[in-house]
Amino acid sequence: MSNKQNHLPDNVPTRKIALNILLEVLQQGQSLSSLKHLTDKLEPRDGAFVRMLSFGVLRFYQQLQALLKPLMKKPLKAKDLDIQLTMLIGLFQLMHTRVPDYAVVDAAVKQVRKSRKKWAANMVNAVLRNFIRQQQALVDGLKTDEAKFAHPQWIIDRLKQDWPQNWAALLEANLSPAPMTLRINLQRSNVADYLNALQNECELTAEQLVNIPAALILSEARDVRQLPGFSQGWFSVQDAGAQLAAQILQPAAGDIILDACAAPGGKTAHLYELQPDIKLTALDVSEQRLQRVEENGQRLGFKPQLIAADAADVDSWWDGKAFDKILLDVPCSASGVIRRHPDIKQLRRADDIQALVELQREILLKSWPLLKPGGRLLYATCSLFKAENQQQIEWFLENTQDAELIEIPAGGLPQTHIETSGAGVQLFPSSFSHDGFYYALLGKKAG
Ligand SMILES: C[S@@+](CC[C@H](N)C(=O)[O-])C[C@H]1O[C@@H](n2cnc3c(N)ncnc32)[C@H](O)[C@@H]1O
Repeated sequence: MSNKQNHLPDNVPTRKIALNILLEVLQQGQSLSSLKHLTDKLEPRDGAFVRMLSFGVLRFYQQLQALLKPLMKKPLKAKDLDIQLTMLIGLFQLMHTRVPDYAVVDAAVKQVRKSRKKWAANMVNAVLRNFIRQQQALVDGLKTDEAKFAHPQWIIDRLKQDWPQNWAALLEANLSPAPMTLRINLQRSNVADYLNALQNECELTAEQLVNIPAALILSEARDVRQLPGFSQGWFSVQDAGAQLAAQILQPAAGDIILDACAAPGGKTAHLYELQPDIKLTALDVSEQRLQRVEENGQRLGFKPQLIAADAADVDSWWDGKAFDKILLDVPCSASGVIRRHPDIKQLRRADDIQALVELQREILLKSWPLLKPGGRLLYATCSLFKAENQQQIEWFLENTQDAELIEIPAGGLPQTHIETSGAGVQLFPSSFSHDGFYYALLGKKAG
């Protein structure tokens, strides 16, 4: 999917909206997904432009900052982050879009002139013009990994340590926008019919991935409202890697299933789509996020038992009835989905990881006794860090006598961008395939 857009929306202050989104992320710690409503209200074309700018600046943030620095006589004060970001939005467009140079400069300067910081207009003008003149030399002058790969140093260090052969490819994969992938609801439609509907109604094509049968990767992202059958529940938006969870857990008729970190319900829905005759408890610590499970259920046609509770505080919610299958899609660093959520690079901190590892371990340890002998538990993260994945599961297996690792059949996995050495399966993000995920299937020994 290309970042290149050349339209020049001028009726709607798209760059100003992108700036406000960036300020919310960087000053208030809001996630891009929590700010989705700011673009949902716009015409699809304008919304796409705002998303391209806000996601793009966060995707290349460290690099854009490094390019800006030599163009400034002195750093701006923290209270002028809006001016700094206006220049980064400009640099991003100059480097990664087809918006003509003159239009980028003109829009940035006009925006500053309209603001209460008119004093900055000449500086913004000079910086962007100098960048246009010196772009290649400035890019060639990038020295640090942080600037070259546009990631915070702590993520680079962790990936180098965990994946010495792959770290550079992983960082590069995070810099291309993720494709839009659908999961066709096989209870309501089928892939062949849906491909036809895409072609006939939207002139869109889509690709399938080997071994992920309900996934369609669209040739171009579209607003869901423009795609056939969204309100009728024909499809959901879900990365192909995430679609493996339900596939690996293989719900069977009559299964009693716990989805212990369920919201917003993407994997819950897929479990029902594979086997409607299940009894599923969808638990999440966030009552607000759990509402999304309910909404998804209404659209897609399933009704789990919903419980807002801490999965690890078993006494507060469990009725004592053991489960055949448990899905633990635990909270994690989300380091595998940075290409889809580039704000993660600014919002996560190095010292979040240990706390996450402890929370994941607690949820895993407390959930294990709820599984029937002979039952299966799927541990899942969207992380690339071994501490949350392979090391977590190796520790659990060493300390849990009745647990064994079940091999995930190769036929149930995509054929590229996976790593199966160590416990479980690691999926790596790669353009036009899937995000980074980790899965480990655990069996409880009977008797
Ligand atoms: C990776 S997301 C789950 C995504 C979901 N399975 C899906 O496919 O749509 C992790 C979820 O864990 C929830 N969570 C975090 N700590 C929890 C806890 N102690 N108990 C239960 N849920 C928790 C978060 O609120 C979040 O919704």
